[in-house]
Amino acid sequence: MADIGKVLRDRLAAAFETVTGSTVDPALRRSRFCDFQADGAVGRPDGRAVAAAVVAAAELDDLCSDVSVAGPGFVNLTLSERALADRLAAAAADPRLGVSTVEPETVVVDYSGPNAAKEMHVGHLRSTVIGDAAVRVLEHLGHTVIRQNHLGDWGTNFGMLVEHRAGGAELDPADMSAFYAAARRRFEADPDFRERSRRRVVRLQAGDPDTIAQWRTIISTSQVYLLSVYDRLGVRLREGDFAGESRYNAALDGVVDDLLAKGLLRESDGALCAFLDGFNGPLIVRKRDGGYGYAATDLAAVRYRVDVLKATRLLYVVGAPQRQHLEMVFALARAAGWLPTTVRAEHIAFGSVLGADGKMLRSRLGAAIKLTELLDEAQARAGAIGIDALKYADLSSDRVKDYTFDFDRMLAATGDTGPYLQYAHVRVCSIFRRGDVDAVGNDFSITHPAERALAMELLGFPGVVERVGETLELHALTRHLHAVAVSFSAFFEQCPVLPAPEPVRASRLALCALTARTLRAGLDLLGMAAPRHM
Ligand code: ARG
Repeated sequence: MADIGKVLRDRLAAAFETVTGSTVDPALRRSRFCDFQADGAVGRPDGRAVAAAVVAAAELDDLCSDVSVAGPGFVNLTLSERALADRLAAAAADPRLGVSTVEPETVVVDYSGPNAAKEMHVGHLRSTVIGDAAVRVLEHLGHTVIRQNHLGDWGTNFGMLVEHRAGGAELDPADMSAFYAAARRRFEADPDFRERSRRRVVRLQAGDPDTIAQWRTIISTSQVYLLSVYDRLGVRLREGDFAGESRYNAALDGVVDDLLAKGLLRESDGALCAFLDGFNGPLIVRKRDGGYGYAATDLAAVRYRVDVLKATRLLYVVGAPQRQHLEMVFALARAAGWLPTTVRAEHIAFGSVLGADGKMLRSRLGAAIKLTELLDEAQARAGAIGIDALKYADLSSDRVKDYTFDFDRMLAATGDTGPYLQYAHVRVCSIFRRGDVDAVGNDFSITHPAERALAMELLGFPGVVERVGETLELHALTRHLHAVAVSFSAFFEQCPVLPAPEPVRASRLALCALTARTLRAGLDLLGMAAPRHM
């Protein structure tokens, strides 16, 4: 069943069309004064008259108990108790809580994208957590989602790493940074090692079997480490989702040849570059030394995702600083005809994680903070819900903005936090336990303002999930769930449930049950647990 806001919006849009003869956005939104307010007529010289005509033309009797015009043309709508009860009953009877399935698409979600032989850092945490929740929402809406973990597993660094390992150094999946740091130190201190590392790069690129075998060990050890982090985070990335940069090696010559044939590359300072309209500076597709970089790989990946994976939507959950890179890749792929207009490519950008000092999060020693240390601390402070709290903090901050990492705030039992949401769910569940209630009916009767406020939030859930499937703004979902939890707690304070006389008790229990299911469904979409007691 369609979301109530959507039904009202459609009916008002039809009425606007009848009245004005043109398409007008009814600009419907939730209101503090009534249930909904539509501002579509505001701003016209005849705003009030248009609003009155729209009210007369719109068929709203089955939904609203009161429709009035105010000020310069606001339309104020109050849902009838009957309509509220019917909608709640329909949501409660639906295993999907009213969330519809959409026209299915094949969506590639490129997320996590850590670098092999390195520790993950908090930027990769954001990509992993946001990407995983995005995958859950898209799958829930009925899309076919293909996860692509664009592992950084290729490049000149690996000459140094292979050489270091060939000299006997062991890689420990429990401490990735030690190996990398030691290799780096040798590289800087020892000119002979540096030279051997350079020769290793050449042998790696030429496919020398011994070198490739060493490289493979480094990659698979890294994957063991990464999979252990994913497991701790409770995200759905599996071994089969790794689609590292090296996978595209064989396709890179073809990328350049095709771009050259299409006249899209120019030589500049020995490198092959694309100069794209609207961008500052070139996109370097082949470097001066003949090597390929990050851009060439991403171009090959676009082709693979469209041609082989048959995706019609490509999502890149990557930090905001890579905006220009991705936009250039998309623009060049479009120009080359690899990204037809029927395929959307979107950068799901996110901001940086900042420390209390407002700078990029660092450890006390000034080094980039290791993700595993953060996870350890979250668990040490809050037990099982610590990691969920960290995930919630990450998901609930406005995606494209930077956010400040603060353990005290994210673990607090009050405020817009994971624990608050999980406790709210526990509290609802405890009502059923205390009352020994095992079955709830489906008859709602909404009379108290606090019941009404909660009902409105619950009915808003499908619309929010559907919108998040478009915008991938997970913070809109956390905000909504938080609002559900807040209105539940106001309801619970003002409206006795177990002691209430029938039929009020049954209706309130039904509201509680729908609240619990909504919180559970929402937490699941966020990739968080919903324990029934704590
Ligand atoms: N490995 C990259 C990094 O750490 C992120 C990869 C993002 N995905 C992509 N297709 N470029 O910055």
